[in-house]
Amino acid sequence: MKRIGVFTSGGDSPGMNACVRAVVRTAVYHGIEVYGIMRGYSGMIKGEFIKLDSASVANTVQRGGTILKSARSQKFMTKEGRQQAFDQLVNHGIEGLVAIGGNGTFTGAMIFEREFGIPTVGAPGTIDNDLFGTDYTIGYDTAVNTALEAIDKIRDTADSHDRCFFIEVMGRDSGYIAIPCAIGGGAEIVMVPETQMSEEAVIETLRNSWRRSKTSFIVVVAEGEKEGNVTHVAARVKEAIPELDARVTIIGHVQRGGAPTASDRLLASQIGIAAVEGLMNGMRNVMAGIIDRKLVYTPFEDTIYKKKMLSQSFMRMVEILSV
Ligand code: F6P
Repeated sequence: MKRIGVFTSGGDSPGMNACVRAVVRTAVYHGIEVYGIMRGYSGMIKGEFIKLDSASVANTVQRGGTILKSARSQKFMTKEGRQQAFDQLVNHGIEGLVAIGGNGTFTGAMIFEREFGIPTVGAPGTIDNDLFGTDYTIGYDTAVNTALEAIDKIRDTADSHDRCFFIEVMGRDSGYIAIPCAIGGGAEIVMVPETQMSEEAVIETLRNSWRRSKTSFIVVVAEGEKEGNVTHVAARVKEAIPELDARVTIIGHVQRGGAPTASDRLLASQIGIAAVEGLMNGMRNVMAGIIDRKLVYTPFEDTIYKKKMLSQSFMRMVEILSV
């Protein structure tokens, strides 16, 4: 393989730059040329390619966001769009790809490979940590720490005013961000998409805590919670327990930014190297991940369709620790 392309796609995550840097430098180390494809699949279709060398990625390991920019492309979902992307890759002599992103990114890569045969190795870049085939995704640790810092601050004011805060953290389909935030942030309750905690159960738990003379409460709600959004949940609880002084905070996109933690930089670097060396060894349609501290390549099909289960023991921990 003489020339490869690297791109970031979907929601950005802290550590994507560290991963791009590792991809570029590993390619250079092995004498392979590398092109950065701007704005994910959208830039691939338009031919937004830039040649990268070792110096292009200097001073990026500590930066949040992605220097290659990111996008979610509707056009790549069409055969016509993918044909244009393939033509661009052929014109630029690109023989393999490293795709840094999440589920949507890998779905696109898998279909693309089946149609046009371009080998792709994925790197798990998403704050959600919802990908099967890796214990952690790039950006997750940073996002959790960012959310936790915000929760600590909210706890100060919650305590001063004897209030109950409903705090929404990110995670479209998963409670992976919510769980460590609830445990580390000392929350009374956590609501995640994987389990169905009813509003009645939330009300009951808060009532019991109130009776036990607790005066301030933190309820962490994952964005994708099935019972409805955080504002809705807070309103229903307020109705049921009018004496509770409730407020809502949505932490939002602040969780996607900022300098990556040491763990995320290390993970991103390991995976970046593994992605390029995987391509060199003939791998295709797989994601590089770390499970039990070992490098593992998992077929895209599994990363997309298999569900990484959230351990029920975490829910129990929240219950025990909030007594
Ligand atoms: O997948 C990462 C993520 O931040 C999710 O947690 C969230 O649901 C989604 O992206 C938000 O997407 P957007 O930035 O397009 O609003």
